[in-house]
Amino acid sequence: MIYDLIVLGGGPAGYRAAEHAGQHGMRVLLIEERSLGGVCLNEGCIPTKTLLYSAKLYDGARFGKAYGVTAESIQLDHGAVVARKNKVVKTLVSGVAMSMKQHGVTVVYGKGQLLSKSAEGFSVSANGETYIGKNALVATGSHALVPPIPGLKEALAAGIAMTNREILDLKEVPASLCVIGGGVIGLEMASYFASAGAKVSVVEMLDKIGGQTDSEIAALLQKHLEQMGVTFHLGAKVTKLSGGTVYFESKAGNGEVSAEKVLVSIGRRANTEGIGLEALGAVVTRQGLATDEFMKTSVPGLFAAGDVNGKSLLAHTAYREAEVAVNVMLGKKDRMDYSAVPSVIYTNPEISSVGETEETAKAKGLSIETKKLSLMYSGRYVAENEGGQGIAKFVFEKDTRRLLGISMIGNPSSEIIFGAAAFIGRRMRAEEIQKIIFPHPTVGEVIREAMF
Ligand code: NAI
Repeated sequence: MIYDLIVLGGGPAGYRAAEHAGQHGMRVLLIEERSLGGVCLNEGCIPTKTLLYSAKLYDGARFGKAYGVTAESIQLDHGAVVARKNKVVKTLVSGVAMSMKQHGVTVVYGKGQLLSKSAEGFSVSANGETYIGKNALVATGSHALVPPIPGLKEALAAGIAMTNREILDLKEVPASLCVIGGGVIGLEMASYFASAGAKVSVVEMLDKIGGQTDSEIAALLQKHLEQMGVTFHLGAKVTKLSGGTVYFESKAGNGEVSAEKVLVSIGRRANTEGIGLEALGAVVTRQGLATDEFMKTSVPGLFAAGDVNGKSLLAHTAYREAEVAVNVMLGKKDRMDYSAVPSVIYTNPEISSVGETEETAKAKGLSIETKKLSLMYSGRYVAENEGGQGIAKFVFEKDTRRLLGISMIGNPSSEIIFGAAAFIGRRMRAEEIQKIIFPHPTVGEVIREAMF
């Protein structure tokens, strides 16, 4: 049989594309090497959120006195947390398998490889079988970047150093943890393990944590994590490892941190190798498999979505890219718009942002107006966040007061930010957003407040 679409990879991009194509009557084959759900479900978004939720409950109980809640001998049982994480992952992975069935998608487990392209379509091999698909979608994801730092390979082999994959299955909370890279993964894991009782240090090359996060908001998170006992070494470049000792150099001089375990979280790389892209002549850059706004690669009929194109490395971007790719295959009018992709760091407190920050807008030379509000403007925030120092920062286009960006720190900003993404994606101006009725009391009301 000739498939309409062969998908390589069953993560958010791959399974969403398969669902969407199946729903529209396409005959779909999905090839997955490891487990449906990809990094997101198995070793990324979902397992980390499960861990972080347990930490939030634990901290809520430990620091509940301010809310009139007291309890004795509260403990976080890390083994039970990990067991629950595994249960949650299993539930969701089987949910994806069910969805594939419901959408008539054939799933093959094995490593898929693009062999050639003929008039019939793409020949793709997996498990010694060859399949033909009129279209192919590469959704092979990304892997943790392991830089050539002396001693790192050895520390990984010895189980002292870990990536995002191994850290989620630690049987016990280490007495100490050194996190290399203060980006999204590093901060989320620092937040969990600090709550769980590890002595956490973060070594970050830049002068601030959180990458593109607004600097003031990143500094507030840093302060909060410091209060939880986390130590930060900023502007610090790791030069070598010796077992669990991480050596770094910084403007302030050379330093070292010794820890029981080390997490390497300095970014990810697209999985573009060993899948036959060279044979087809597809353009691959350092960033990943090159795609245009229609998710087309340089090879007609070959599409790519998700981390493999290196554009956004977020599951929610992957979903949308997958839908765009399939819609384009179906001849529907659609294109990918990256201007309003929300991003969240699920630390406690959470950081959520979408669109421009003051810094990115200024770097682009945009004429802007900014506004900052304390989340204390929200009655709900005051009720639920004793001593909270959350803020929301807004960026408007100067003449039109069109909303260009929002950055927030505070809970539960992750559940609010999609609203801001809708306003920004729809290019709405402050006076239009003012006319929208927000439920009261919610933390989201701060967004409305800022429009006046
Ligand atoms: P990242 O790019 O977010 O952060 C890496 C950090 O490591 C940067 O701050 C960088 O300056 C630093 N760094 C690089 N080389 C270094 C060195 N030699 N020594 C010290 N620091 C160094 O990468 P991360 O945290 O690994 O996450 C990977 C991807 O996964 C991200 O693109 C993110 O979008 C995605 N992700 C998203 C999550 C979410 O949406 N909540 C959660 C976790 C990951």
